[in-house]
Amino acid sequence: MISSDFHHARPALPAPSAEELAHSERLRALICADIRAHGSIPFWHYMELALYAPGLGYYSAGKTKFGASGDFVTAPELGDLYARSMARAVSNVLRAATDSSFLEVGGGSGKFAAAALAEWEQLGCLPRQYRILDRSAELRERQRASIAARVPHLLHRVQWLDTPPEQGWRGVLFANEVIDALPAHRFVMRDGEVREIHVALDDQDRFCLVEREADTMLIAATRHVAGDLDAAIADGYRSEILPQLPYWIDAICGTVEAGLVVFVDYGYPRHEYYHPDRRDGTLSCHYHHRAHDDALLWPGLQDITAWVDFTALAEAGTHARWPLAGFTSQAQFLLATGLLDLVQVEQLSLDDIGRYALAQEVKRLTLPGEMGERFKVMCFARGIDAVPPAFTAYDQSRRL
Ligand SMILES: C[S@@+](CC[C@H](N)C(=O)[O-])C[C@H]1O[C@@H](n2cnc3c(N)ncnc32)[C@H](O)[C@@H]1O
Repeated sequence: MISSDFHHARPALPAPSAEELAHSERLRALICADIRAHGSIPFWHYMELALYAPGLGYYSAGKTKFGASGDFVTAPELGDLYARSMARAVSNVLRAATDSSFLEVGGGSGKFAAAALAEWEQLGCLPRQYRILDRSAELRERQRASIAARVPHLLHRVQWLDTPPEQGWRGVLFANEVIDALPAHRFVMRDGEVREIHVALDDQDRFCLVEREADTMLIAATRHVAGDLDAAIADGYRSEILPQLPYWIDAICGTVEAGLVVFVDYGYPRHEYYHPDRRDGTLSCHYHHRAHDDALLWPGLQDITAWVDFTALAEAGTHARWPLAGFTSQAQFLLATGLLDLVQVEQLSLDDIGRYALAQEVKRLTLPGEMGERFKVMCFARGIDAVPPAFTAYDQSRRL
């Protein structure tokens, strides 16, 4: 996800319309009722409601979200290059498995699915099924429309799931920018103890952040992280953590018998994520292409994300019996898939404007100041003859 302005201080934000504010107010009322019933709610629960409350949350309701008229841009939204490169990278794995499936977790606007299906059709290695597991019913409809517009004759291969598959299957599981959207626990260290950040109401009924006793899962997860760091976590240090990540990974990958599991997201290895200088965590909100860190603002109108601790993801994968196969930056991954060859061929059929747009897309996907270094590609593999080389080239697993 990129916003044109990627800073944590609150930039000037365009005011929401009256209709948008009314929508946000309905969600606020729902969250307030929850807080009044419990005194305060853990931050992760606030994030869960702000993003996924049925019919009201940012992902569950009708906001545009993706692209120029939305709040942020993801790699598949920039054009076809990202999806085509990923489709090429996994093509041999799909070819090798008879009855292969591709499962996309968090399908967004459906642009990735449409472009990947078109690419596999060209390459002659369409998976038997393309499955999409997404929490948002509203996005499912958009996904269906994107696929129907681009590859209508392949729509019959696409299946939407409410829960991870229960039967064993082979192929590729893929998630782009989904882990950053999982509700994150926020913690703070006080006198050597882990405290949990909650959302409460102040005396004027406004949301505010307060510190409360942490639950045992959060304490155990934070202690595990702390044990891995070079220095003790300083008093007053605040950050995010996903104690539920191992269970979530186990749930989505549990029935994949053989193949690849690929996650792409922005984040760091643990030592960088919990660097002593990052005293206020990684939480980032996206609203009309501005990034800031006020998660309590306009619930339902803005995206809320936390960066990914890739060491935690590697641990969760291996805990679910998926050996880590590769960890690299998005730029290195895309270049290793042959991105530049793809671009060279593509350019032949374009006019000057098209070539310029393609060059811009390459830059945004690969330059270090854009998505190239901030985004990482983590791949797990089991039961296949060979891991596609793009996932193992320039491997940085030793940094985890
Ligand atoms: C930031 S968007 C990324 C969408 C798309 N992958 C892309 O890159 O454009 C996050 C997506 O993950 C979905 N999502 C969030 N949590 C999920 C979960 N636990 N299971 C399945 N989908 C989820 C959201 O509904 C949304 O489609």
